[in-house]
Amino acid sequence: PTERPLVVAANRLPLARAEDGSWTTSPGGLVRALLPTVQETKGSWVGWTGERDGQAEVVHADGIDLYPVPITSDEVDRYYEGFSNGTLWPLYHDAIRESNYRSDEWDSYVDVNQRFAIQIANIAPPHAAVWVHDYHLQLVPGLLRELRNDVRIGWFNHIPFPPLELFQRLPWRSEIIKGLLGADVLGFQRRQGAHNFMSAAQNLLDATELDEGLVHYEGRNVNVGAYPISIDVEDFELQASGRATRQRTAQIRSRLGDPEVILLGVDRLDYTKGIGNRLQAFGELLDQGRLDPERHVLVQVATPTREGVEQYQDERREIEQIVGEINGRHSRLGFPVIHYLYQSLPLDELIPLYRAGDVMLVTPFRDGMNLVAKEYVAAHVDGDGVLVLSEFTGAADELGEALLVNPHDDHALQNTIVRAVEMHRHERRPRMEAMRKRLETSTVSDWAKSFLDVLIDS
Ligand code: UDP
Ligand code: G6P
Repeated sequence: PTERPLVVAANRLPLARAEDGSWTTSPGGLVRALLPTVQETKGSWVGWTGERDGQAEVVHADGIDLYPVPITSDEVDRYYEGFSNGTLWPLYHDAIRESNYRSDEWDSYVDVNQRFAIQIANIAPPHAAVWVHDYHLQLVPGLLRELRNDVRIGWFNHIPFPPLELFQRLPWRSEIIKGLLGADVLGFQRRQGAHNFMSAAQNLLDATELDEGLVHYEGRNVNVGAYPISIDVEDFELQASGRATRQRTAQIRSRLGDPEVILLGVDRLDYTKGIGNRLQAFGELLDQGRLDPERHVLVQVATPTREGVEQYQDERREIEQIVGEINGRHSRLGFPVIHYLYQSLPLDELIPLYRAGDVMLVTPFRDGMNLVAKEYVAAHVDGDGVLVLSEFTGAADELGEALLVNPHDDHALQNTIVRAVEMHRHERRPRMEAMRKRLETSTVSDWAKSFLDVLIDS
């Protein structure tokens, strides 16, 4: 949508080199959503390769220019695993784990943000639209503005932005708000996130709200709004209706022993996702005889993520223990009741799995959007399937025909799973149809266009 060249900056580059030299797509919703937009506009992407002490070699892959920002091993510990994922991530997700507040980690965060700003300033064509992403790079808008005043600067937060009561715990809260206010446009997944940012800007700095969604600070105006992210719906539908997918879906069902109902969970192995509670609820239902291991099986894909961070190691241990206990009690020889994969699956395997899933369980305690929920709906070109969805996801704003549930409420979780399993097709189909229709009118290209239109006009 832009005549200005597009430069995207996000902590992680969208493609990573595998050992055999081929390219693989990096995990997570940010990359899945953004990659098609950058490819379409032939833009550039500034980010980290995921290596410790990596090289800064520029490469052209899959139609885009990748500009690596080198990050040292010490910075991976302090900036990435420390400040980004040990401080900001838990704090921004309702503080469901204790955050660390360490000034050496903050210093490293400042250094890396500075390096990103310099790299962007060096490579951005004149008058480019620079679109910065996520919680790792909150200082970049302000730092970049000092280096280049010809470019437009946008920032989008893929995760929740916390309420002031939580945000103000952060010793460097004012620096972060000031960094963000260097942008022309700030985008959030939900209205609540935009609102939380506004109140932080007014309370912590003396920013003023001129109009709804327009904040004034140090002589400049900044647009603040909600832009719920989405997926490439058409592409999912196309892939989901192909012959290869149909064959693979049938094969998956038969490999699982042709059970009556396949329940499915697909998440990065993150403590925000509520995987343990979901598994416990499934186990309880088997214990009570409300589900039957001969008729109901659960497939849980848990993608490896942030394995160097202690809270993720603890979470993995806990989940694998629960899987072991439930399988020990309820599996039969050759037929585990939970099929657990600690793996990252490629899309051509994920889509048949979505199609094989009769009931999809998406039960995070907090999630900015949750693209898996949208992908499940888009993949169900057969118009069938039931989505159980946590109220605490951005997706719940748009997918109201899902069975919405509070994942902290064990009984509600159990009852909702039973309701999903037993739902008659006369109720299933209209719910799925309504969600599919709504999704088709808000795809990821609509999302990118709406943000970039404001960025370019601002
Ligand atoms: N995903 C994947 N392979 C897997 C598991 C997940 O490619 O084995 C993708 C999934 O298709 C989705 C993304 O990872 O696009 C997860 O995005 P989401 O918004 O649900 O959560 P996030 O990981 O960003 O917190
Ligand atoms: C979420 C975040 C992304 C991140 C992804 C994977 O989607 O919003 O910024 O890239 O998780 O996490 P990782 O730490 O591996 O990049």
